[in-house]
Amino acid sequence: MKEEEKKKTLTTNQGSPVDNDQASITTQNPTMTLLSDTHMIEKLAHFDRERIPERVVHAKGSGAFGYFEVTNDVTKYTCADFLSQVGKKTEMLARFSTVGGEKGSADTARDPRGFALKFYTEQGNYDMVGNNTPVFFIRDGIKFPDFIHTQKRNPISNLPDPDAFWDFLSLTPESIHQVTILFSDRGTPDGFRHMHGFSSHTFMWYNANGEHVWIKWHFKTAQGVKNFTNEQATELAGTDPNYATRDLYESIEKGDYPAWNAYIQIMTPKEANNYKFDPFDITKVWYQGDYPLIPVGRFVLNRNPENHFNEIEQAAFSPGNFVPGIAASPDKMLQVRLFSYPDTHRHRLGANFDQLPVNAPKCPMHNYQRDSYMNTRNDAPAPNYYPNSFEGPSPDAKFAPPALDVQGLAARHEYPLGDIDFVQTGELYGRVLSDYDKTNLINNLVGHMKNAQQRIQLRQAALFYKAHPEYGTRIAQGLGLSVDRVKQLAEMSQEDRVKATAQ
Ligand code: HEM
Repeated sequence: MKEEEKKKTLTTNQGSPVDNDQASITTQNPTMTLLSDTHMIEKLAHFDRERIPERVVHAKGSGAFGYFEVTNDVTKYTCADFLSQVGKKTEMLARFSTVGGEKGSADTARDPRGFALKFYTEQGNYDMVGNNTPVFFIRDGIKFPDFIHTQKRNPISNLPDPDAFWDFLSLTPESIHQVTILFSDRGTPDGFRHMHGFSSHTFMWYNANGEHVWIKWHFKTAQGVKNFTNEQATELAGTDPNYATRDLYESIEKGDYPAWNAYIQIMTPKEANNYKFDPFDITKVWYQGDYPLIPVGRFVLNRNPENHFNEIEQAAFSPGNFVPGIAASPDKMLQVRLFSYPDTHRHRLGANFDQLPVNAPKCPMHNYQRDSYMNTRNDAPAPNYYPNSFEGPSPDAKFAPPALDVQGLAARHEYPLGDIDFVQTGELYGRVLSDYDKTNLINNLVGHMKNAQQRIQLRQAALFYKAHPEYGTRIAQGLGLSVDRVKQLAEMSQEDRVKATAQ
């Protein structure tokens, strides 16, 4: 306890001294509690309101503060102020999380891990809200609520639902790449310190001349990658469900500060028109052979929060929090996310969520937004409208990101599903994973898929077969399915495969 807080008289929230905090005011015989005990009522009423909605996804997580330091000159690509000079340091916050589980769920669950960073720059807050995987399950944000529902509890049984899980994924073949990563041991990382982070999305960087490039962020753990096997993760879920939270907190407490090295991949707009994969499709990576990692800086986490609720639970990250020099790309998932985060923050934390100290910029801010619940801003005596002739804050066109040339019809354009959507998964299985990784991947998948209906197993196994025949064959064998049938289904179009496995 802080020295200055010791030996003080207990008070109400209004600062009035309290005479007794152990006995409520009642009649004597029998004891009926009286409304006149305003201290007791205030205490209980506040307690009744302690919980706020947990995040609809990424509810379980922990975080810490630290700094980002630029190590490489990237000013020819971006005019972002916090990246403007080698050696420049910017205060930051990181929050790591699992995705599907509730706030009390186990840290070692098989799940992607959230990797959210907030940079308190001198030109406003920049958020990089990524994951520990470079790709995602879907590539159009309109599918996100359905996808998440299949990862949550069945609304009737209140239990995880393997049918829903595999039904949706097998009807959404573009998920195959992320599914393969998730069911490898990368789906159960050893805490938050031993994993990489990725923006996954493509973003625009533009320089002082208004020239832009497309980039992807990579954050490589300086602690080295470590994963748990399924057995280790399952055991820890019982014996130490807060493993990752404890590991991060304790390492910082003892001065062993975790660090990540930051890199980007860069693609020019011209290259983006001709790349073999759609560079804005989040189910695909850009090969590092084509677009090597360029070092940018590193970040170090060296300070635990003083109050988890205030600084981590109330932290509000948004992939739309940009600073000059960084902007969105035409990635359909990203575009939907730009809406969803501040929308959920207004619901979860209230309209003035950005006035909370952890979310407020550390640079001056000026605009004409006013009032609402819990407002503490006071812009008076400035005018509360724009334009005005009282020298109130005004926009500056020099901060405009480059204009994008947009053409064609506004319509519900679907991503066509093609063989190209299985190529990177086939390479991951065939060329990247070791025999040990492959065996764990197959066992982890079979262990999970065995709980789904057989027709759904067949449909999903056919997708693995399409990615790599050995992959599909081993899954089929592990589940006791006919390999011939799986091969036959793999050779069909997705539409025919769905019809053939309808019942
Ligand atoms: C959290 C929506 C895709 C990473 C959240 C939250 C929502 C959400 C509503 C809760 C935020 C809060 O309560 O503060 C969506 C939607 C998506 C999407 C609609 C697709 C259109 C993604 C992708 C990634 C990602 C592709 C990673 C590349 C995260 C992270 C958090 C989060 C890291 C936790 C942030 C924190 O620590 O507070 N998402 N998400 N999400 N999402 Fe997404």
